[in-house]
Formats: sequence, structure tokens, C-alpha cells
Amino acid sequence: MTKKMDGIKALPEQHEVVSILEELIHKDGAGSWPPRANHTDSTWPVALRSYKEIYQELVLLLPTATPSLNDQVNTTRIANFRLRFRDLLYKRVNLAQVKQLLEAADADRWDVFPRDVYNAFYCCIASSRHAYRWATIPVVQVAQLEKEVDLPIELTEPWKYLQRHFGCTSESGNNMSNLVLNFDTEGRYMYKINTGMYDLVTSSEETFARIFYNVEMLGVPVYHDMVLAIVTFARGEKAACARHVANITAQLRLVLGSYFDHMHDQKIARSVWLSHIQGFFAWGIGSYDDASGECIKFDGLSGNQALLFQALDAFLGIEQYLSPRDQERNVPARQRALCRALAKYSFRQMLSETSNDKNEAQIVHDFGEIVKRLRVFRAAHRTRARVYLSQHAPERLPMTAGKSLLEPNIDQSLQFLDEFMVRRLSQTV
Ligand code: HEM
Repeated sequence: MTKKMDGIKALPEQHEVVSILEELIHKDGAGSWPPRANHTDSTWPVALRSYKEIYQELVLLLPTATPSLNDQVNTTRIANFRLRFRDLLYKRVNLAQVKQLLEAADADRWDVFPRDVYNAFYCCIASSRHAYRWATIPVVQVAQLEKEVDLPIELTEPWKYLQRHFGCTSESGNNMSNLVLNFDTEGRYMYKINTGMYDLVTSSEETFARIFYNVEMLGVPVYHDMVLAIVTFARGEKAACARHVANITAQLRLVLGSYFDHMHDQKIARSVWLSHIQGFFAWGIGSYDDASGECIKFDGLSGNQALLFQALDAFLGIEQYLSPRDQERNVPARQRALCRALAKYSFRQMLSETSNDKNEAQIVHDFGEIVKRLRVFRAAHRTRARVYLSQHAPERLPMTAGKSLLEPNIDQSLQFLDEFMVRRLSQTV
């Protein structure tokens, strides 16, 4: 990435979209993309280290091979897990010191709290909150039916700082905090859910998480070329612009390949995904809001929060998939800013389908190719997602991580989800 970013910096003409991408990489990415997350806790400020230790200790108690179908048994299991978690946090975390560090980051003291550690800590707290929220994997009905969960102060206080810093309003984690940042600078997968379970479960879990990391990794040249296509188009350099759009078309094959090659039964076992992987990333609880007098519920993670797809849609001039409310909840502010800038400078509508200019004709053609590839992804995703969501999981009610509890009946739930997919496909033109 550094090399590519240097290329951008060397551009004589500054452009808003260039500075926004640079800011995203510099701040949220800690100078790189995918964002750098320093998970080597021996290098962390001491006060933060106990969080990781506690997660690693408790995560062993989280999964079970066969969930109980007895609500009473599950209620006890959940209560015990949470009690233990709360107790360890209380005993081992010095919250005052943790807050001092977070204040230092707020004051831009990145020498005290380096950005790559900040990113890893975001993932650590997000993963800890999800572990506390569900307290047992597979996720079970009694937990799904909870409306509010009182999280320990050691998990709520840091979250406020972190969410303010990243510009997200949700109580749940998001695609960035729990998945992309869950890989260290060597690409190792860190906060696991199913430690101690059989290989099929652990390897499926890691493969699933890694798709999101890989999409961002392989997406780097795409961001770069989208920005350069915009800059060169603005300067009237159509031949250069055509090259950048063509690069995107070619690179998309690799990006989408990371999805196609992994999201199938041989890599992510259908028999384990719904019960052992998906539930952890859901949220489905809320808290009472004094101002409105209502309980505001938050949903969890979804692939729909992945930056690359939102950025491509913006570049193509297709409206954003997520509502403004869901973007603000789950997509970090600097990622939203990039998508807004890509949409603002989207030039596809300015091109003529019947242009005599061979470069312009080439750009039109390549835009068509990008749309075609996205449509192939969306059509395939519609079918594959359905298969994973249709698996038998008697311990739980129909739910997706991103939409929380669905209809009691699985067919109605699938129908409801299919409407999002079909609508999106029809918008992808
Ligand atoms: C078994 C795994 C998965 C299932 C069951 C699943 C399911 C779904 C469902 C039901 C939707 C539509 C409803 C909604 O937006 O919440 C959706 C949307 C989406 N998913 Fe997934 N998903 C999975 C994995 C992935 C992966 C690995 C990616 C990308 C790397 C991804 C990317 C997206 C995107 C970008 C959308 C928004 C719609 C679009 O842009 O086409 N999903 N997913």
C-alpha cells in the first residue's frame, strides 16, 4: 500500500477524494490498508493487557459442541459465564488507567497510544462485548430473546471512546472492529470464538473471517484506481482514466475470487456456520434512551458493512445499500466519507454510450464489465446465503447477525431476506 499511496501523494493536483483516502489510511489504517492492528499485547500499554488475557481465558468456556435445548440449563450457563467475566474484569482492569490512555488518544497523543494498538484494542473490546452478550456458542434462544443486557462498566466505558473515535453509534461491533481488525500485521487471526472445538468448526470460522480481511487486502488497488480514475477524468486525461477503470475490472476478478473460492461447503462447512459462527456476530439488544423514552435496539454485523462494496457502488453512481442510519451505526465515519466523495465525483453518468472517442468508449465498456461482475456476485450471494441460512439449528430462532431476529417461520424469514437481495440486484445496472 505504501508504494501505491506514494503514487497518489506524488500527484501534482490535489483532489478531495485523494485526501479523503489518505486520511482514512493514515488515521483508521494506522498508515496502511487493510488497517494495521498490533495484537502483540506485550507491546501494549500495560493497563490494556488484562483485557486480552481475560478474553483468552474465558473464550475457552464459550463454545460447546452440542447446545442444550433446555432454557433453564442455558440460562444458568449464560449467567455463570457473565458472572465470571464481570468478576475478572473488576479484579484485573484498572479502568482509571485505561481511560487515561483513551483520553490521550482523544488528544492525539498517538505516541502514548499508537494507532495500530488502538485498532487492535477496538477489536479486543468489540470481541469481548460480543462474548459477554451471547455468553455461549452456539447462540441459544433464551439469549436471543433478551431485550437488554447490562454489560460491565469495563466494557461500556472504553466502547464510548472507541465508537466516538471511529464515528459509529452502535452498541454492537461492526465488520471493521470484529472481522477486518481481527487479523494482526502478519495476517494471523486473533480473537477466536470456537477455541477447543473440532477442526471443521475452527477452520470454517477462520476462513469465514478471512474473506472479509482478504476483500480489503485485494481491494487496495481498486481504491487506488478508483481515485486515480476520478482525478484523471477531472483533468481530461481520458486515456489514463481508461487504464485505471480497466485495472479495476481486472482486479475485481481477484477480489470476488476471494469470496467465490471460500464461501462454499468445502471451506466453510454449512453444518457449522449457522450455529457456531454467525450467532456471535449478531447483537439484537438495545438500551433505554432517556430522550425518546424508547428502547433502541441495535443489530450486529453483516457483509453489507464491508467497505469495498459500498465504495464500488458509490464509484458507479449506484445508491448506497445501507440506510443513512445503518451507515452511521456500523460504518466508520472516514469510510463513509470516502464513499460520499466517490459518489460526489462519480463520472459514469457523464459518459456517452455512443462516443466516437475510443478512450471514452473503452471506459463505458469497462464500467459495464464492473457492473456485470457485481451482478454475478450478487446473484451468487443470493443463492449461497440462502443455503447457509437454511441449516437446521434447533437451539435458536431464525436470525441473521445483521438483521437480528426474523420471522418465527424460516421460510418467511428467507423470503424477507431474499427481497433485499433481489432489490439490490435490480439496482445494480
Ligand atoms: C454464510 C455467509 C453469509 C450469509 C448467510 C450472508 C447473508 C446475507 C444476507 C441475507 C444479505 C441481505 C440482507 C442484509 O443486507 O442483511 C447479505 C448482504 C450482503 N452480504 Fe452477505 N452473507 C454472508 C457472507 C458474506 C460475505 C463473505 C460477504 C463479502 C465478502 C458478504 C457481503 C454482502 C454484501 C456486500 C451485502 C449487501 C448486498 C450487496 O451489496 O449485494 N456476505 N448477506
